[in-house]
Amino acid sequence: MNTPVTVIGLGLMGKALAAALAGNGYPTTAWNRSATAVPDGVTRLDTVAESSPTMVVCLSTYDVMDEVLSTADLRGRTVINLTSGTPGEARRAAAWAAERGAAYLDGAIMASPQMIGTPQAQLLYGGPKDLFAAGEPMLRVFGGTTVHLSEDPGVPLLYDLALLAMLYAAGQGLEHAQALVGTAGVSATEFQPYANAWLTHVIGPMAGPENAHAIDAGEHATDVSNINTNALAIGHVIRASQDAGLPADWLFAQQTRLEQAVADGYGSESPTRLIDYLRKEMG
Ligand SMILES: NC(=O)c1ccc[n+]([C@@H]2O[C@H](COP(=O)([O-])OP(=O)(O)OC[C@H]3O[C@@H](n4cnc5c(N)ncnc54)[C@H](OP(=O)(O)O)[C@@H]3O)[C@@H](O)[C@H]2O)c1
Repeated sequence: MNTPVTVIGLGLMGKALAAALAGNGYPTTAWNRSATAVPDGVTRLDTVAESSPTMVVCLSTYDVMDEVLSTADLRGRTVINLTSGTPGEARRAAAWAAERGAAYLDGAIMASPQMIGTPQAQLLYGGPKDLFAAGEPMLRVFGGTTVHLSEDPGVPLLYDLALLAMLYAAGQGLEHAQALVGTAGVSATEFQPYANAWLTHVIGPMAGPENAHAIDAGEHATDVSNINTNALAIGHVIRASQDAGLPADWLFAQQTRLEQAVADGYGSESPTRLIDYLRKEMG
């Protein structure tokens, strides 16, 4: 007999989570603030207080979670919180849950609702490892990559936000590129194969194991593309953008780091060296 589970929050993501649980034979109940369709096999609850001992929470913010869970006695319950926020909010929520007598796991969903239940969905967890181990068979219904990262409940959201930082930087870069080629009348569709090949063969490998090992080892030798070349190239990008009236201010910080690295004698090294400059700026 599978453990009964209650999903708190039936937004786009909560519905996908509840459907995955019910579809995999978990007796699933759900609570949502407003009336909404409930996935097949899921029973709607009128109050949070009626929840099963195991609760999967997926609400818009941590503040909303505090407000919603305050309406129930959490003693003896397990809260698995998949709401997005900051690592600090996750750590505070873990302490908040402990004060109320609940066991607590925090998780980050690196997937869209449509990916829930597929091998491609990544779900990252933090908090007590034994609690994760006990719930792991149930948590695996949400995605193929279901991992415990740390006893620190803030770590999954740190990964989440680090990956989102990459997403927003890449998105901004792509929009800038499309606008820049657009100044010569080139459409996004015409440019697309070149952008895609560049992402696959040049940008993708930047996140490969060689660069990661180089950064961890502090070794930045390169026979690919050095800081001198990139300091000149980013200047070309900025000047061409400015000539076209395209705002390029988001590139200034990286240009300053590249130029400082040249001035510091690192011109023949790989741009992986720039992590040192960013860390220095963090103080
Ligand atoms: N969608 C994604 O692709 C995705 C991916 C990864 C992570 N996430 C995370 O999953 C969480 C939920 O996202 P979602 O896509 O499901 O968002 P959503 O569709 O906007 O759903 C938000 C949920 O929060 C509830 N809610 C909002 N304010 C409330 C309040 N004051 N009191 C009670 N309930 C309240 C909503 O209830 P009502 O229905 O009554 O408004 C709904 O259940 C977010 O933290 C999001 O960052 C989403």
